[in-house]
Amino acid sequence: MHSIPQYQEFIESYIENQHILKAPRNLYEPVHYIINLGGKRMRPLLTLMSAEVFNADYKKALPAALAVEMFHNFSLVHDDIMDDAPLRRGHETVHEKWNTNAAILSGDAMLILAYQYFEQYEPAVFRDLAKLFSKTAIEVCEGQQLDVDFETREDVTIPEYLRMIEYKTAVLVGAAMKMGAIIAETSKENCDLIYDFGLNLGLAFQLQDDYLDAFGDPETFGKQVGGDIIENKKTYLYLKAMAFSNETETQQLLHLYSIHPADNSDKIDSVKRIFEQSGASAATRDAIETYTLKAFDTLSKMEIEADKKVMLEAFGKKLMQRNV
Ligand code: IPE
Ligand code: IPE
Ligand code: MG
Ligand code: MG
Ligand code: MG
Repeated sequence: MHSIPQYQEFIESYIENQHILKAPRNLYEPVHYIINLGGKRMRPLLTLMSAEVFNADYKKALPAALAVEMFHNFSLVHDDIMDDAPLRRGHETVHEKWNTNAAILSGDAMLILAYQYFEQYEPAVFRDLAKLFSKTAIEVCEGQQLDVDFETREDVTIPEYLRMIEYKTAVLVGAAMKMGAIIAETSKENCDLIYDFGLNLGLAFQLQDDYLDAFGDPETFGKQVGGDIIENKKTYLYLKAMAFSNETETQQLLHLYSIHPADNSDKIDSVKRIFEQSGASAATRDAIETYTLKAFDTLSKMEIEADKKVMLEAFGKKLMQRNV
């Protein structure tokens, strides 16, 4: 096994060698821009790590790792159009820097590029990877649609929210890990267990993404703080606040989540105050821990060396403490 910084280094140098900038420049410049803006590289890192957990060389997993990262970046470019987001990774979003048409088409190209990376695998592995990828990609679309549908609904439930984040975010984390397992040609049980591990980690990850969207530090977060509140996103914070609040606060929240003011600062302040006072913030932090521990449970069922479990757990714990 390698260390987290080593895996990150492997991914960065693999990306650097890709020669993404081709003609027509207006198609590939946004691709090059977003993929080189950095980001945590969590998903490709998990693909490499998972391959090594099941005794394959990480190098064999590099094309799949990049496929996952490319798909993730595609989803971000289109997500930022849908969420009307100005900032990504501390810089202008693609549709702001270029325009919406450029963001749509370069996003489409990234989705296709992602598929092409799987062509480097032999037929049996290729088939399994492509099948998993297609299933995951369509689920992400379903999750993204639910996310948008929920903006204008007042009766979203916690189970509905959990299914939405499972689809838009967690399945890709699960798939990233399962791809490493497929490449290592490990048992079906291990493939399913590592998928579950990733899925639960992914649920915790999205809950924390929602938390940071409201309470992150604008100096370091890299995205517009309060973006979910502006867009009336029905996050765990919101749903718990609705559940925990008295009648007056419930009415106030309902009102705040039905308006689109020109200046959002008062709306954001009021909503955050209710999130804190109602206990919704604390409940969200609890849920992040619960899903992380659920992921660790899956690990205990896996037949791998103890030091590998320790490493996967350490990664899960680090994710829980992130602030970007
Ligand atoms: C952002 O993902 C989108 C979500 C699914 C929450 P990341 O937080 O992994 O974004 P980067 O790649 O590190 O920028
Ligand atoms: C995004 O969820 C999930 C996907 C991109 C598929 P968010 O909309 O919460 O992600 P951020 O906060 O913009 O990164
Ligand atoms: Mg978004
Ligand atoms: Mg979104
Ligand atoms: Mg978010």
